[in-house]
Amino acid sequence: MSWQQLWHKKPPNPEARSEDNPRTLKRSLTRLDLVVIGLAQIIGAGIFVISGVGVQVAGPGIILSFVVSGLACTLAALCYAELAAMIPETGSAYAYAYAIFGEMVAWIIGWDLILEYGMGASTVASGWSYYFQDLLRASAWELPRWAASDPLSRAGGLVNLPAALIIMLLAILLVFRTKMNALVARWLVAVKLGIIFFIMVVGAFYVRPANWAPLTPFGHFSIIQGAALMFFAYLGFDVVSVAAEEARHPSRDVPFGIIGSLFFCTIIYILVALVLIGMVPFAQIDPGAPFSMAFRQIGLPWAAGLISMGALVGLTSVLYILLLAQPRVLFAMGRDGLLPGWTAAVHPRYRTPHIMTLVCGSVIALCSALTPIEKLAFLCNIGTLFAFFIVCLGVLVLRYTQPQARRPFRCPAGKIVALLGALASLGMMLSMPFDSWLRLGIWLTLGLIIYFFYGWQAGRWGRAR
Ligand code: ALA
Repeated sequence: MSWQQLWHKKPPNPEARSEDNPRTLKRSLTRLDLVVIGLAQIIGAGIFVISGVGVQVAGPGIILSFVVSGLACTLAALCYAELAAMIPETGSAYAYAYAIFGEMVAWIIGWDLILEYGMGASTVASGWSYYFQDLLRASAWELPRWAASDPLSRAGGLVNLPAALIIMLLAILLVFRTKMNALVARWLVAVKLGIIFFIMVVGAFYVRPANWAPLTPFGHFSIIQGAALMFFAYLGFDVVSVAAEEARHPSRDVPFGIIGSLFFCTIIYILVALVLIGMVPFAQIDPGAPFSMAFRQIGLPWAAGLISMGALVGLTSVLYILLLAQPRVLFAMGRDGLLPGWTAAVHPRYRTPHIMTLVCGSVIALCSALTPIEKLAFLCNIGTLFAFFIVCLGVLVLRYTQPQARRPFRCPAGKIVALLGALASLGMMLSMPFDSWLRLGIWLTLGLIIYFFYGWQAGRWGRAR
């Protein structure tokens, strides 16, 4: 334990490349699986729920908000792709920060990712519960008040039971083999994309171009505000890199998975926003369930039910991947000795980080059962932007410090892209409310206290070398 250890860098983990090591995850994911993981994670509450709020902020300009947000994410995605190909390990930004900036920054980012995935999952579970109860009501069922909501959101609420139960169910599923889980993800994504195409194709017949004008009724700046909000809709492409250690050919396929899924989603979001705004005057778009309400308004109530079901499936797949990602970051930190050894335990038969999967699932279930989650969505966004900022900075630093290093995927115009990506992430962070900064600060301080009392003394990379 020494001050130098704080900056000690970890070389890419040779264990992570080995097939036979019992402390590694099983390499079973194909290129298609990785794109599916990306799509499963990206398309969810952002488009199905938050776009309704985005329309209130930016009006028809939300179409441009999607473009701006998509561009900012593309910059970060290219940086993620370069690092994911160079350092194909589980742990995502945590593993990159360890290799580039050293132990302490790695810890901070790992701790930050835990927050991002945890808060993201809690937010999405809350949306899931909303749609689930909507469908129950449509079949003339209703949950008792105490089980329908957390204690603060609604009078009479005690626990958000559906949110907690779906999280526990998925966590248990995730203890089993990842390959089986990837198949489940494929089905979930297929249904979700089917519903999205349904919205685009059927909705297109009801589009009236006059509804697209005026494009920016709330001023040009509202496009940026909308972009900061709709950023949530793009979160998740980074999760593909978390699965790098389970990919069959990580250097080639992980960049493909990251960029492919992000590109596909950007196009889809822009088209879907064009249809939504074109179908109904923007002032009449519902902030809670924009698409199903729009279809009701144009006289297709049966389509509204179908869309609610699709949204439920979409949110399930997002939850599924978030719950896959969070324990893997903790797993990576545990394997590096920064957390107690049991956090890096791998199930002898299924080769999944089973203990952390169940621990994370329980904590997230508890959070979403008891907390009004909407406010915490901001915390998820700011945490993610912080990780993006570090990743972009990492690419920039490596381009200068290790210009000759092997880069299986080389980001085009790397230095400029990395610089713009870092600035875009920082700019979006600066547009977030002060209380998000405060909560992020508290969380990171807590993390540093744990690091100095445990990880600093126990981290095996700094100590052993
Ligand atoms: N992008 C994910 C969603 O929209 C987080 O739900």
